[in-house]
Amino acid sequence: MDRIRIHGGHPLSGSIKISGSKNSALPILAATLLTREPCIIHRVPDLSDTHYMLQILTHLGAQVERASGTVSVTAEKIESTAPYDVVRRMRASVCVLGPLLGRCKEATVSMPGGCVIGDRPIDLHLKGFEALGAAVRVESGNVKLFAPKLAGAVINLRGKFGPTVLGTDNVMMAAVLAEGTTVIEGAAQEPEVVDLANFLNKMGAKIEGAGTRRLIIEGVKELHGAEHDIIPDRIEAGTFLVAGAICGKGITIKRVEPEHVLAVTNALNNCGFRIESSANSISVSPNGDAKPLELITEPYPGFPTDMQAQMCALLSTTGGISVITENIFPQRYMHVAELKRMGANVDLEGPTAVIKGVDHLFGAPVMASDLRASAALVLAGLKADGITEVSRVYHIDRGYEHLDEKLSELGAHIERVKS
Ligand code: EPU
Repeated sequence: MDRIRIHGGHPLSGSIKISGSKNSALPILAATLLTREPCIIHRVPDLSDTHYMLQILTHLGAQVERASGTVSVTAEKIESTAPYDVVRRMRASVCVLGPLLGRCKEATVSMPGGCVIGDRPIDLHLKGFEALGAAVRVESGNVKLFAPKLAGAVINLRGKFGPTVLGTDNVMMAAVLAEGTTVIEGAAQEPEVVDLANFLNKMGAKIEGAGTRRLIIEGVKELHGAEHDIIPDRIEAGTFLVAGAICGKGITIKRVEPEHVLAVTNALNNCGFRIESSANSISVSPNGDAKPLELITEPYPGFPTDMQAQMCALLSTTGGISVITENIFPQRYMHVAELKRMGANVDLEGPTAVIKGVDHLFGAPVMASDLRASAALVLAGLKADGITEVSRVYHIDRGYEHLDEKLSELGAHIERVKS
């Protein structure tokens, strides 16, 4: 298993380009199952998660070609069963359920298992499929869906932790081929949901309201092939902005959509960093002493849970007391124990982290536990005195395209150690 070794304390400067969004690419690749015609998707990031998704599509019978960031998928004939062996490596595999149900009117997909960031149920996805007329059974670890026909319905997808992103994606992908009109209330508003709706509309779907809490979907008989560019990854963008804040003289990220990153740039601004945005780039630079923050993670456009761990790393060395409350995945704090091994002073009180800023972090061997927690450890390593070695790097490779190479371009002393 590879490790990432960082010699901390080398300030970052310069610029890098942001890759296509992982969380847009995964459901959009799944959506290509909705048509027999070829689809061409550009700016698909080179990540293990997108590779897994392409393996699932291939298993289901699609022809897949990948050349650099462009993927073409032709799903002329498909089958509707994705067993455990094929889907177990990635929780987001669950988003083939909607397209399979829409196109084949049946689907058998192994249930996603637990996850270190907390309990991750799919009850809302299943409730949505049922409302469209599907019979839902969970047996022997599989979700089985069957619908002689799908009919439009009014569905409220809001759960106790707010809207569901992949649940909204899944029900929308089934509803585009249902008879009649579907209204999804309590829909997720994330930019990745909008990107998927835009792609589906290019395929001939009739979806209105993407980016609001209410989606109106008029079912169509069939969809056709389409070409699409994936939006920039707002979480990768946010992670690099925090890298620039934690250890930068001034860095610029390019090929980004500043509006999608507003919650993060506002937080960094409140923390005392200078932020300058133009149409497709954002710069972050120091601006006097950094200040502590109070942050709450919320659905978009609130502060994203996927940036909580990285902010923990930043606030660990920001003077004063910061408080973060995790409202989406209340147990998503696996990074805290590792940050403490580097000298951070963080107390967890249920879903809240109370962070007392320290003057120095110290390099240490640390273990990545999930994607964003791993990124936080790398960021802490950039700032720490001495050498930090992050093991279980496969977590990072799931969701950051060439993170070590991009940080190295910015002047970080970082290397990948193969074992
Ligand atoms: N929830 C339910 N029932 C459901 C579905 C979700 O109670 O049927 C709860 C979850 O337990 C959570 C909340 O609703 O408390 C929101 O979860 P959501 O369904 O929105 O999460 P997701 O769609 O499975 C996506 C991203 C995650 C990101 C979350 C929240 C993808 C592939 N994944 O997951 O990204 O944290 O939305 O924004 O889009 C990551 O990239 O590191 C990552 C974990």
